[in-house]
Amino acid sequence: KKTKNQILIIFGASGDLTKRKLIPALFDLFQQKMLPENFAVLGASRTKLSDKDFRKRAAEFLPENKETQTFAEKLFYQPVSPHETEDFKKLKKRLEKLSADQKTDANYIFYLSTPPSVYGIIAKNLCETELSKSDEFFRRLIVEKPFGADLESARKLNKQLLKYFNENQVYRIDHYLGKESVQNMLVTRFSNGIFEPLWNRNFIERVEITSAENIGVEGRGGYYDESGALRDMLQNHLLQLAGFVAMEPPVVIEADAIRNEIVKVFQSLRPIPEEKVPENVIRGQYINSTIKGKKIKGYREEPGVDNNSRTETFVAMKFFIDNWRWGGVPFYIRTGKKMPARVTEIVIHFKQVPHHLFNNSGEQGPIDNQLVIRIQPDEGILLKFRMKTPGAGFQVQTVNMDFHYSDLSEVRLPSAYERLLLDCMQGDATLYSRGDAVEEAWKFVQPILDAWKNNPNIPIYGYPAGTWGPDSSDKLIQNGDWRYPCK
Ligand code: BG6
Repeated sequence: KKTKNQILIIFGASGDLTKRKLIPALFDLFQQKMLPENFAVLGASRTKLSDKDFRKRAAEFLPENKETQTFAEKLFYQPVSPHETEDFKKLKKRLEKLSADQKTDANYIFYLSTPPSVYGIIAKNLCETELSKSDEFFRRLIVEKPFGADLESARKLNKQLLKYFNENQVYRIDHYLGKESVQNMLVTRFSNGIFEPLWNRNFIERVEITSAENIGVEGRGGYYDESGALRDMLQNHLLQLAGFVAMEPPVVIEADAIRNEIVKVFQSLRPIPEEKVPENVIRGQYINSTIKGKKIKGYREEPGVDNNSRTETFVAMKFFIDNWRWGGVPFYIRTGKKMPARVTEIVIHFKQVPHHLFNNSGEQGPIDNQLVIRIQPDEGILLKFRMKTPGAGFQVQTVNMDFHYSDLSEVRLPSAYERLLLDCMQGDATLYSRGDAVEEAWKFVQPILDAWKNNPNIPIYGYPAGTWGPDSSDKLIQNGDWRYPCK
């Protein structure tokens, strides 16, 4: 695909995301020669910086070499306060000059990496300075998460943005969709004849999605304590993964065709009424522990976190998708901080055979076939099936057919931000969330937020840092256990 000449304007450019994720992703694109011929980045934040200061900051996570220097020449900076209309007028002038100097044309992407409270006002000011629309050039808006803090605020935000931009200009980023292994799910499902015929309630017993992190809140205590695992991970990243697992085949591989199918999945999520929350949703918070002689702080001791915080750092839930394909198949999702490993995977548990011929199995009890889609790290796909143990009799054992992306050694996995930025530069919104899907996801999560708020007696279980979360989360699954990837 062709990438037009353009300028990427990053609001909140003095923040962490810019130097940790966005600039390194742009640098990778630059190294791969995937940026358009004429391209510039304009950092825009409240902090007063010169182009030189910004280049220095931006290079913090880049290698020290000549390429970095050449790349840095494409970076510029303009101080902008979200509320100052004068600053937007100056921004407009600067952009006109920059597009002339750099021969980029007036194609602009505005990336909102600021606190969400100023998304609306930035969109408004862009519109009022006539930067949000153009007949001749493209104007796009990338919005970072969190996209709202509940259903009402998400609706309000959508409304605000859509006052100044059209839906097809708005790119709501969910970096999980930029992960290679997530996109591969579409290919695995829809380009093989062997999986899709089994991909339904007749053959699948349950679906499990785990996203465990071994890190804690990493200096983001202030943000996280207001958010918690349900808002931070489940409402967006994990429901999107469930969407990819559960969707119907799209008519074509195009943004709206795929996103229509995702919305349908979200619309089919069986609501969990407030009174049923305790039996279907388990929340936890990590407490201090000692691992290999090293003391690990509890969540409440983290900087920025309230000493009596009741914010969950772990959540596990059971839910159903009430549609033709998935009727009666339970989905189990869990995510948590300070767990024993960093691993995200989806496990499809197939139904048992109807009759067990090999009762003398060498393994304890019946075991289902599993297809494990490893999202990260060690991206790949694992199929577990049963085989005869060589030798006398009919001893049965489970064996693995295991594909690792890393075995394709000539292939480099692009980072999620790299993929997503390039897609937006090319005008492809397939891997971005659409406004209606975001609202549907909030609609599903809202009763859980309400239940926790209205009923403080719903327990929040402590789990020692470095463990797989509260024991009660094990009880969610009726006929089996969570898969523990590295226990
Ligand atoms: C972010 C969350 O969206 O995703 C973080 O705000 C979380 O709390 C991160 O750590 C996880 O992303 P990844 O790509 O490391 O799995």
